[in-house]
Amino acid sequence: MSAVIIDGKEIAKALRAEWKTRAEQLKEKGIQPGLAVIIVGDNQASGIYVRNKVRACSETGIYSEVHEFSESTDQSEVLHCIQELNKNHRIHGILVQLPLPRHFEDKKIIASIGVEKDVDGFHLNNIGALVTGYAVYPPCTPYGVMKMLEKNSIQIEGQHAVVVGRSNIVGKPMALMLLEKGATVTICTSKTTNLEEHTRRADILVVATGKPRMITAEMVKSGATVIDVGINRMPDGKLAGDVDFDTVREKAGYITPVPGGVGPMTIAMLLCNTIEAARRIQSEIVSEINTGK
Ligand code: GUN
Repeated sequence: MSAVIIDGKEIAKALRAEWKTRAEQLKEKGIQPGLAVIIVGDNQASGIYVRNKVRACSETGIYSEVHEFSESTDQSEVLHCIQELNKNHRIHGILVQLPLPRHFEDKKIIASIGVEKDVDGFHLNNIGALVTGYAVYPPCTPYGVMKMLEKNSIQIEGQHAVVVGRSNIVGKPMALMLLEKGATVTICTSKTTNLEEHTRRADILVVATGKPRMITAEMVKSGATVIDVGINRMPDGKLAGDVDFDTVREKAGYITPVPGGVGPMTIAMLLCNTIEAARRIQSEIVSEINTGK
């Protein structure tokens, strides 16, 4: 039987309507949520992501501004820009689009963002909060995946979740969030020996490796929930995920498509975190725990 397709586009659309109402309510109190996006260099994919984020902000009633820097910019210029944004009352969220050029120290850049404005949830304090089970701003992509599971009433507690990928942006926070909800979690990488032995045991399989169609039907348990975070541009110009969608959909219970799966959810959760940042800054709540509601 063919899997149920989890439509990230539809879920994100409904959530964005909710966030729009929240933004309007804040506006009535005299505060318009504001997001600043910093982009360095001319990575084509990053340019598209940033344009999509800016468009989503404007559709939701969130003020946004983009700070663009050339590839050869010294990181001190970007650090100075972040310091100014930290003090800027119009701005409640600051996002530095990754990847940064090689001569940048990502850790130093992220550490310079005010914790209360770190809507990506990448600051060490926010990661630390996540590790202890009290996420302040959950990183947007895994936060979006959790919402997709919730909206489809997919059980997490007691289930075996396998995350393939160990990035700071997706794999590691994803594993922590699943663990927090009571899953037994295995973290693999694309290089794990006998990867299929692990993936075949997954009730929930989340893949974020950047290796197109690497997860095939034989690697998936019958009826499993398969979440594909990958987005890869193929030589024919088409997009493909890290999961071989056409074969895996015949075996899985639930599956996310690419495009139209996790991607739209990442943006929806960024809007959510930005509005939440505005609410907290306005009410001078800095470290309230995010309950995911
Ligand atoms: N690059 C790829 N995904 C992300 C993300 O979620 N946030 C940022 N800042 N950069 C990214």
